[in-house]
Amino acid sequence: MLYGRSAEISALHEVIAQARRGCGGAVVLLGEAGAGKTALLDAMAARGEAMRVLRTSGVESESDLAFAALHQLLWPVTGLLDALPGPQRDAVRAALGHAPAAAGDRFLLGAGVLSLLVEAAGPEGLICVVDDFQWTDRASADALLFAARRLGAERIALLFAVRGDAPVEGVSATVGVGGLPEDAAAAFLQSRHGLLAAPVRRELITLTGANPLALNEIAALLTPAQLAGREPLPDPLPGGARLFGDRVARLSSPARLVALLAAVDTDLEVVLHAAERMVAGSGAAFAELEGSGLAEVSGTRVRFRHPLMRSAIHEAAAPAEVTPCARCPGGADRGRP
Ligand SMILES: Nc1ncnc2c1ncn2[C@@H]1O[C@H](COP(=O)(O)OP(=O)(O)O)[C@@H](O)[C@H]1O
Ligand SMILES: [Mg+2]
Repeated sequence: MLYGRSAEISALHEVIAQARRGCGGAVVLLGEAGAGKTALLDAMAARGEAMRVLRTSGVESESDLAFAALHQLLWPVTGLLDALPGPQRDAVRAALGHAPAAAGDRFLLGAGVLSLLVEAAGPEGLICVVDDFQWTDRASADALLFAARRLGAERIALLFAVRGDAPVEGVSATVGVGGLPEDAAAAFLQSRHGLLAAPVRRELITLTGANPLALNEIAALLTPAQLAGREPLPDPLPGGARLFGDRVARLSSPARLVALLAAVDTDLEVVLHAAERMVAGSGAAFAELEGSGLAEVSGTRVRFRHPLMRSAIHEAAAPAEVTPCARCPGGADRGRP
């Protein structure tokens, strides 16, 4: 059961209903990890009624494997390939590994993928779901976007989900998947973890931005006494690594150390001063941290863009990095450089 997504569901239903009437189109769901993009796509796929559903998902480890995503999307309908004009059929077959790879003609492949989707749509229509598009291999992405721009007269709805907030070039319709509305977040928490003390519930909702994955994961890591409000919540909250761990892992180790300093003290001057003493190439490391989108400078403060990014930094730190060291400059007070 999905909580609090009626606007998003209506927007997606509209795209699907239009496609069913022969006025196809593409739409992109944009949102951070755990916001509920996949859950929305699942709901759409399940409610497709008579429409055929094809699905694929970008996989990080396959993002440099040409045609991996297309292969997953199209294998259920390869039996329809014979209906395609010869050159398009050959291009799709080669991309899917059913024929020797020819020197790829991107136009023929794009046209072939579109033709195959049109065949698959038949009279009832087709919902194509492309999840985690940010990890889709480039060759598949090009072919899918080629098709996405040419759906106007087809019974095809192409639904993309992308992590982050950067729009997909060439697909103008977007649906932002943000935090849940407060009442929906409360109902969601209650459904998974029983009744929480109201102040705890409010604090969790604020700290997580009502991200469903974060709410669920963090509540699962809290003790019954913390959930009931008899004990304070830990600071930082646990569970950040699940959401932002991959972004933290992509930082160089100097940038991660600067991030750790910022997670301990938000004062810009303090962070810069400590970074100069402790981090080789501290300027570049600081710039990398800012460029990563995890932290930003706001006035005289360094702020994490999400409270759970701060906890992800803590969780990624090696014990030696967070344990005060009496011999270091700043001594046992290393927690506040
Ligand atoms: N509106 C919602 N109501 C109930 N559960 C939700 C909702 N949105 C997401 N979830 C749950 O939260 C978790 C994360 O959602 P998911 O769709 O995987 O996020 P994303 O794909 O954006 O990373 C999943 O367990 C999902 O079932
Ligand atoms: Mg997902």
